[in-house]
Amino acid sequence: MELKSIFLVSILLSIHCAIGKEVALGEDYVRPQPRKTLSFPWKPKHSSEPQQVHISLAGEKHMRITWITDDGSSPSIVEYGTSSGEYTSSSQGENTSYGYLLYNSGTIHHVVIGPLEDDTVYYYRCGGQDPQFQLKTPPSQFPVTFAVAGDLGQTEWTKTTLDHIGLCKYDMHLIPGDLSYADYMQHLWDSFGALVQPLASARPWMVTEGNHEKESILFFKSPFQAYSARWRMPYEESGSTSNLYYSFEVAGVHVIMLGSYTDYDEGSDQYAWLKEDLAKVDRERTPWLLVLLHVPWYNSNYAHQGEGDGMKASLEPLLYAAGVDILFAGHVHAYERSEPIYKNVLDSCGTVHVTIGDGGNREGLAHRYHDPKPQWSVFREASFGHGELKIVNGTHAFWSWHRNDDDEPVKSDQVWINSLVSKGCIGSKKHEFRKILAMH
Ligand SMILES: *[C@@H]1O[C@H](CO)[C@@H](O)[C@H](O)[C@H]1NC(C)=O
Ligand SMILES: *[C@@H]1O[C@H](CO)[C@@H](O)[C@H](O)[C@H]1NC(C)=O
Ligand SMILES: [Fe+2]
Repeated sequence: MELKSIFLVSILLSIHCAIGKEVALGEDYVRPQPRKTLSFPWKPKHSSEPQQVHISLAGEKHMRITWITDDGSSPSIVEYGTSSGEYTSSSQGENTSYGYLLYNSGTIHHVVIGPLEDDTVYYYRCGGQDPQFQLKTPPSQFPVTFAVAGDLGQTEWTKTTLDHIGLCKYDMHLIPGDLSYADYMQHLWDSFGALVQPLASARPWMVTEGNHEKESILFFKSPFQAYSARWRMPYEESGSTSNLYYSFEVAGVHVIMLGSYTDYDEGSDQYAWLKEDLAKVDRERTPWLLVLLHVPWYNSNYAHQGEGDGMKASLEPLLYAAGVDILFAGHVHAYERSEPIYKNVLDSCGTVHVTIGDGGNREGLAHRYHDPKPQWSVFREASFGHGELKIVNGTHAFWSWHRNDDDEPVKSDQVWINSLVSKGCIGSKKHEFRKILAMH
């Protein structure tokens, strides 16, 4: 028995990458106040200097490198290799830019590099000039670890959240929407790009859009222009025709990014693409199925109550039939985790819903919850923080949520999640899934 508990503790410790002490939420816990928006002093830059570097997966064994230059003439070239300063390969890509009222963006470069080795550090530089950056590709097998935090913004709390994530050992950052909170002020996209560069140039940042990315102006500006120009995701690589929804695979995980702010009804392009994408999922190769979207479907906070109902009504039967293990949402500036659930009823073959819109944006926290706590809600708290999902193997994943307690990450919620495959849920849903796929 002693041995067993030592074993357990050592597993927990080794899984636990954040340095956190463990503290239960007590009556005497004083919740921290919102913090100031960061200010970014203007620094003159050489006009061809790469800025706002970030990376994202771009199909199997490939990575997209994105950066911005002030000038339009520096080349869209990335040189890379596995030893520092020795660039044995190079790739050429493309550039874009956009105008928004009086603002003109810099030149936005997108370059796909690869094929790359799995779980390997690469050194690279952009536009044929220093500085050198460094990235690590994700592993091809379990374990794989995701950092998860939405609704980031760019306040001092955002900085704390990012610092905590930076202390952690993880392979990829998943963001369920609301990145910069630029909200029409285009230079805030640039300061956000600079803020996240240290992390986003080193590990893939896979994002989906929130309401703060929309920035549309009636009859004048279509939505998501800045977002799609700057945060191009592998939609073409995953058979989608829109940067607003796509999928990718990493290790044994199939991840689907959905759009809460584009059509999702049964006649929509997104619905048709989702059905096709789900039909391609092979649970022997990718036993885990994750979904991210912005507006939560299960939410007991007063904030944004019911906003996800339309999308839920349209897509929940499909996702249930396909057997989605975990769904991450943002939007509500707080943390909440559900039991496995389907159509508001606890169901061991249902999906675990996690709201993690607590990255640290300037709007502050969503404090008010409906009481009593619904039966499906296991843990809820209005604090800033981030989550870590370590998928250990095809059957077990360890999820933990780390509250930003002042300036330390404190592990506040944790749970082992068993895959639906391991619970025998997938085979039993095959018939139902085929029926839905055959409709329309
Ligand atoms: C930017 O892209 C355009 C085509 O979209 C191309 O004509 C131009 O040469 C590119 N600029 C650079 C510096 O690569
Ligand atoms: C998967 O990981 C869990 C947790 O570490 C472990 O208990 C289990 O035996 C593993 N399963 C396999 C098939 O390795
Ligand atoms: Fe939002």
